[in-house]
Parts: sequence; C-alpha cells; structure tokens
Amino acid sequence: MATNGTVKVELRVRRYNPERDEKPYWGSFEMEAEPEDRVLDLLHHVQWYLDGTLAMRRSCAHGVCGSDAMRINGQNMLACKALVKNLVRGGKGRIQVEPIYGMRVIKDLIVDMEPFMEHYRSVMPYFVNDEPAPENGRERLQSPEDRERFDEATKCILCAACTTSCPSYWANGTYVGPAAIVQAHRFIFDSRDKAGKDRLAILSQENGVWRCRTIFNCTTACPREIPVTQLIAEVKGAM
Ligand code: SF4
Ligand code: FES
Repeated sequence: MATNGTVKVELRVRRYNPERDEKPYWGSFEMEAEPEDRVLDLLHHVQWYLDGTLAMRRSCAHGVCGSDAMRINGQNMLACKALVKNLVRGGKGRIQVEPIYGMRVIKDLIVDMEPFMEHYRSVMPYFVNDEPAPENGRERLQSPEDRERFDEATKCILCAACTTSCPSYWANGTYVGPAAIVQAHRFIFDSRDKAGKDRLAILSQENGVWRCRTIFNCTTACPREIPVTQLIAEVKGAM
C-alpha cells in the first residue's frame, strides 16, 4: 500500500462500441483508490470524472440485483463486491475488467442478456399447482425440512456469473446453463410444486443438464456462494 494508505491502480477496461470500433481494445485509466474501494467505485470514477462514454450496468451496488457481473482479473465477479485490496497486492497494481464471456457485447461491459433470460424462462421457473388452495386463505404448508431442500437455490440473483464462466456454455450457447438449472432446482425440489417432472423432461433434452461436465467454474463464480455444481448433480440424480 502507498504510504498515505491509498493504492495506485491502473484500471484496464475492455472497450467496444460496435457503432464506432472495428474491434475491441483495452482502455487504461490511472487512479488512486482506497483498499476498501470496490471495482464498481473505480468504474464510477471513470464514468463520472474521466470518460463518461464508458458503458456498464449496475443498480443496487450492494450485491443484490445481480446486474454488474463482469470478468475481473480473469474471474467472474460482481463489481460491487470485488474489493481493491483483494485484487492488488502492495501499493500499486493493475485491475483488468472485461464483459462476461459467451454473450454478445452491446457496448463496453454491457452484454445482451436475452439468450440467458430465454434459457431461464425455458425451465418453467415458477410455482405450479392447479389443485385447490387450502380453505380460509391459508397457505400451502411445508415442513422446515422440505423448505430446507431447495434453500440454496432461492439465493440466486440471476447475475449470470455462473453460466458465463462455464466452458460448456462457451462451446455451445444453446446449453441452458447452470443458472437455469439452479432456478429449475428451486421448484423441482419444492414439495408443494406439481411440475417437477415437466422440468426434468425439459432438462433431460440435448441442451439440458447433461451438457454439464462438472467443471466447477460455476460454483467458484457464484457471488451468493450457492453450491451450483452440487445443485446440478441433484437435478441429474432426480432424473
Ligand atoms: S447461481 Fe449464483 S452465479 Fe449463477 S446466476 Fe445465480 S447467483 Fe449468479
Ligand atoms: S449492482 Fe446490484 S449486484 Fe452489483
């Protein structure tokens, strides 16, 4: 760390404006940062003071909305959770930021999320039960053990860090990907839901769960610490 407690950072950002650039290139920005600053703070500094044309998505800035997944020093992370002190050793260093892989770049760090959302929608990520609800407005009861069965899957914020870190997805974008399988898990293992077999039938197709090669990149990438590979294995087991 520098003597005044700040860190000298070279922030390299993969830039691309398809309306203007023939191909992507690296932009470089020098700045002083606090060790506790997040990569999102550095990107804001660029946008607000150095180059207002930098394009990125973010909303909550607190790891909840899932909109700022990007590739930081070679690993998928949320920019709002990636701290400078964990990326730069000593008083100075470089942080490299790229859009997540396997998606069409719209501009700079913004990618087209539509194929990802299409995979998400394809697994019926909603509660299905056409039986009459309990009388007197009561909810459908569930034991704590049954609720626990899919608890990890409820933590997903659809950031796409898992799916876009998966080599199987890079190789074949028609693979539904880890995030969609996690979302399917959420309902397949819900004791109140009645469409588990339909979801398993969808995921047993050519571009479903068997394209997972148990590489574990998804588990490493997940900012919610969901054991993604384990949940995928549980869906495979249910088949
Ligand atoms: S499983 Fe984790 S990495 Fe994948 S979309 Fe959900 S929160 Fe993001
Ligand atoms: S901005 Fe919402 S998760 Fe990072």
